[in-house]
Amino acid sequence: MKVSNRVAEMQFSPIRRFNTFAFEAEAEGKTVYRLNIGQPDIETPSVFKEAIDNFDNKVIAYAESGGVIELIDAMIDYMSKMHNMHYERKNILITNGGSEAIISTFTAILNPGDEVLMAEPFYTNYSTFCNQVSGKIVPLTTSAEDGFDWAKRDLIEAAITEKTKAICSISPGNPTGRVLSKEDMKLIADIAIKHDLWIISDEVYREFVYDGAEAGSFGQLKEIEDRVILIDSVSKRFSACGARIGAIISKNEEFMEAILKLAQGRLCVATLEQVGAAALYRLDKSYYDEVRTEYENRRDAAYEELSKIPGIVCQKPAGAFYMTAKLPVNDIEDFLMFLLKEFDDNGETVMFAPAAGFYATEGLGADELRIAYVLTPDKMRRACELIKLGLEAYKKK
Ligand SMILES: Cc1ncc(COP(=O)(O)O)c(C=O)c1O
Repeated sequence: MKVSNRVAEMQFSPIRRFNTFAFEAEAEGKTVYRLNIGQPDIETPSVFKEAIDNFDNKVIAYAESGGVIELIDAMIDYMSKMHNMHYERKNILITNGGSEAIISTFTAILNPGDEVLMAEPFYTNYSTFCNQVSGKIVPLTTSAEDGFDWAKRDLIEAAITEKTKAICSISPGNPTGRVLSKEDMKLIADIAIKHDLWIISDEVYREFVYDGAEAGSFGQLKEIEDRVILIDSVSKRFSACGARIGAIISKNEEFMEAILKLAQGRLCVATLEQVGAAALYRLDKSYYDEVRTEYENRRDAAYEELSKIPGIVCQKPAGAFYMTAKLPVNDIEDFLMFLLKEFDDNGETVMFAPAAGFYATEGLGADELRIAYVLTPDKMRRACELIKLGLEAYKKK
């Protein structure tokens, strides 16, 4: 017996693949600063648990397949008050995290062999999600040197074929921290109209935009409202990764009907978590301001410290909580193994995600790392200092 070719060809997540070695280092008594995974340490707002505690139905019944109405209404208010985007209940469907929102979107719009354009490096699980429905991600290659910019007409149009169905954007970006400007979005919208493509816009980091910039959204562009699909999630916004609540938001009724069919097949999303998430979406604007400031401080600490590494290529990320940087090494995985197995400074070492797994093009990213700045500024400084010290020791090896 064999597993399907589709699954056999998939990769293990580069974000989680090295965890075993981190556990081994910890078992030896080392402290490992984990910058490999986007799991924030910020407390989930207490309203989440309070709302669940106040839930007094005697039966935890199935919810509606499209989601609990109080959560959908809370999202409608949040979109309108915070981002000047106006939706009705029929435009929003609650999913098991942003992850299910992406899988369902691909299932709903792709036939086998259809292509989705996406800037690489990209959030690695997109490959897994697209392979699941036998679709293909066509990468638009960007580089650390040019700040991972992909909003270029030539680059995008050169990749369009008759199989292209969608342009997929992650902004603010994981793993690069790149944020599309309003002009960038208009350019991409224009290309999508010209070639009749969907725009899948993953905005799970929507509020994480720094230096006083305003978070834009493809959902704000009237001229493409029938072709935009927003992917959303509470995971990062409210530091509630384990709640597994996401959403698909679109004004295209045919698309939303297709999504509802898929949603009915999996019955519903966890009822109690939806009740908790509804309370999160009722939080005041000050919550977002506070969290944004904290991440901005973490970014500044990480960037300042990483910039001290001779030969590093990295630019200050404008959003999300990731940074992809090029180091003067040939094989970043080998360097990571060295950090986990052979190196420590006062009993401490550090872990990041090798960036190769975020590229679809074979061979790219071999000298790049991705860090998630999900620790306090002091810890970020120390973790980045450990990368620098580790590199010095590695070079001497
Ligand atoms: C860009 C992006 N989209 C989607 C997800 C999936 O998030 P979740 O399924 O936890 O909502 C992640 C998780 O890291 C992400 O970085």
